[in-house]
Amino acid sequence: MIRLLATISLYALVVRISPRFGGTAVGRYVITTLARQCAADSPAVIKIAQLISGRAQFSDRYFCEGLLKLQADVSPNCWFRGEVDETWFAKIDQRALASGSVGSVFRATLLSGAPVVIKVKDLHREEKHLKSARTFRSISTLANRIMSVWNIPALDWINALTPVFRGQFDFDSERANALQFAEAFRRVDGVVIPRCYAQHSNPVALVYERIEELAVISEELNGTQRGTRAADILLKAYFKMVFIDGLIHCDLHAGNVYLNAKGDVVILDYGYVERITDRVKVKFRKFFGAIVSGNSNLCAALIVDMATSRAKRYKEFEFFTAIGDLVEQFHGRRAGDVDVGKFIMAVFVTCARSGVRVESWFANILVSLAFLQGTLVKLDSSLDFQLEAKRLLHTLEEGAIGL
Ligand SMILES: Nc1ncnc2c1ncn2[C@@H]1O[C@H](COP(=O)(O)OP(=O)(O)O)[C@@H](O)[C@H]1O
Ligand SMILES: [Mg+2]
Repeated sequence: MIRLLATISLYALVVRISPRFGGTAVGRYVITTLARQCAADSPAVIKIAQLISGRAQFSDRYFCEGLLKLQADVSPNCWFRGEVDETWFAKIDQRALASGSVGSVFRATLLSGAPVVIKVKDLHREEKHLKSARTFRSISTLANRIMSVWNIPALDWINALTPVFRGQFDFDSERANALQFAEAFRRVDGVVIPRCYAQHSNPVALVYERIEELAVISEELNGTQRGTRAADILLKAYFKMVFIDGLIHCDLHAGNVYLNAKGDVVILDYGYVERITDRVKVKFRKFFGAIVSGNSNLCAALIVDMATSRAKRYKEFEFFTAIGDLVEQFHGRRAGDVDVGKFIMAVFVTCARSGVRVESWFANILVSLAFLQGTLVKLDSSLDFQLEAKRLLHTLEEGAIGL
């Protein structure tokens, strides 16, 4: 991992001097090697790379495009090794259909004839993850010392994110999440949640209904009727999760969101999920409502209200001014005109510098927004997601849709 970080830093340095470096033959070679190294590293590294790759519009395009492979297409290089009770199946393809950050997915057919996939946990990756968590901790302890000069608690962030990466390997919880998402979206037009065959699944293998002909979401859809419709469906689905159900898929990048032959939005992979209580949901609604209506003071006040603690150095005026500036820059922008990732990073840094410690659910929702934006921008960069949120929040306030 140290080698990986060193190569990325070196690449960033060269790009600063020569912004077109990524487009040259040497640049492309470096990026391909980096993507390969990331793919072979732990899921935490893959997740970070996936997050970066969704920001092509806002940072080094070549770098982001090179990492895109890690979203939908981590090369499968494994075989099925009997992780399920094979007597339930008429046929199992031994060669993997696709791979993600947690495991590989195999095509199979149940005895009933139903086409399914078996998602098998990669135990080697899980082990790697545990190892890399230790490396991360050592790096962040060091970073904590250096960054404490700017009051940035690197270790706090690592501590908040580690359970999330760990949770992705918990197939019992993914199975429970899959069942709940299926129930929540049962009657929602345009959203497809593949059925999870819970009785055929186990802690190392999950069996899902197979969705044929999944189309990858790419920039080519931007501005097309298909893209606009899918963006609208995906955004509404996300708002339902965050404002109504309190069951939030935090990993909506293009490796987990596809279109089917009808153009409906298929949502996969329920490993990175946040659950919030009704009380928290109401707070978050208010917070989002304050952002989209540009009420920066209310935004700052709500962050403080949602924080777990405040350090002695906290100064209300400074914090409110800093958040005010950020909200000002963000408010009223369309999906393609605002870098949600950068905004979120700035919110985290402002909180850290001011000694406002945010809860992990808040951090996870903000991260989910960054993933979502990466996908929405590809589908329809002119989408006004803040206006959509405003409309929905208004309807919720009026009581037309219940909690
Ligand atoms: N129900 C399904 N039908 C068809 N393909 C699927 C299905 N579930 C997963 N896949 C394929 O497998 C890939 C990895 O699955 P995913 O659940 O995202 O694994 P990971 O948690 O490792 O990222 C997906 O990007 C998709 O290409
Ligand atoms: Mg995935």
